[in-house]
Amino acid sequence: MLAQIDALQSEALAALAGANDAAALEAWRVAYLGANGKVKGMLGGLKDVPKDQKPAVGARLNQAKAAIEAAFEARKGEVEAGGGGAVTKDFIDVTEPGTVETRGLGRRHVISRVRDELCEVFARMGFDVAESRELEDDDHNFIKLNIPDGHPARDPNDNFYVDDARTLAKPRMLRSQTSTVQVRTMEQAVRDGGGKLLKPIRIVAPGRVYRPDAVDATHSFMFHQIEGLYVDRGVTMADLKTTLLQFARGYFGEGANVRLRPSFFPFTEPSAELDMLITLREGQPPRWIEMGGCGMVDPAVFTACGIDPEEWTGFAFGFGIERLAMGKYAIPDIRLLFENDLRFLAEI
Ligand code: DAH
Repeated sequence: MLAQIDALQSEALAALAGANDAAALEAWRVAYLGANGKVKGMLGGLKDVPKDQKPAVGARLNQAKAAIEAAFEARKGEVEAGGGGAVTKDFIDVTEPGTVETRGLGRRHVISRVRDELCEVFARMGFDVAESRELEDDDHNFIKLNIPDGHPARDPNDNFYVDDARTLAKPRMLRSQTSTVQVRTMEQAVRDGGGKLLKPIRIVAPGRVYRPDAVDATHSFMFHQIEGLYVDRGVTMADLKTTLLQFARGYFGEGANVRLRPSFFPFTEPSAELDMLITLREGQPPRWIEMGGCGMVDPAVFTACGIDPEEWTGFAFGFGIERLAMGKYAIPDIRLLFENDLRFLAEI
């Protein structure tokens, strides 16, 4: 009889643990603690127990009944509090809204998106994308671009030299302009032609450039430029201006305009600064914003790259990608582009 009581208690408690809602609890209660339940039945068996064992068996029965009743009250409390434990449904409704805050999808940085967009606008005009190294030598950053020894642009304080510029003949440096890619592209084309330029060149080259400038709202020690180079026979300044106007309209929209202001760069002759007429903010009048430099490739640059300036002509340009991004997206401070504050990046 004692063994039967132990077995009933274990069975009752195990069944109770599986009762996860009010209906299951009630069914369990009827089965074990009801008027015709198993506990009652067990109590009824006491009359058949031999007299000398009755006190012990009776005490054990009372103990088991109390334990089972206490367990029922405890489980009822749990189920009513919603802590039913195990999943009560045998399916999961995947359409129900989650209880965990959803995580935002990441997106590409605005500079990467603008760079791709710029390349795409130029691709529509037949320009390929060229890339080259960021660690350069001063041969490509200066000399072949007609910036000779002693030129102020080569001042070690204005450039990130990696080697000692005073002692080494060809010191390496982080490129200060993407114009280096003009030189590398022309040199490669001449190598491909077996020492001679055989066909026209039409490339844009986006990439990082480095200058030891103090950081403020419009300056950074690293920023991006997009360089352009077109070499063909009979290229004129009118081709340059038309290309830039098409570019400005392709990127900023049909209302954009361009203006060239005479300027000077060692690698172009004549040279110009390019301004674009754009609307910085909705509702404000359009403004002229300086985007970079351009001009007709200087014959000295052609010669340095092994191209005959009597046969070939060309134009080149170099713009700041940050400026183009800031103008289009009304970004007031260049530092926003590099601080990686997600509150800013998520809005742009
Ligand atoms: N490399 C110049 C700069 O960083 C920009 C530039 C001017 C590029 C004229 C050109 C050009 O290709 O023709 O300031």
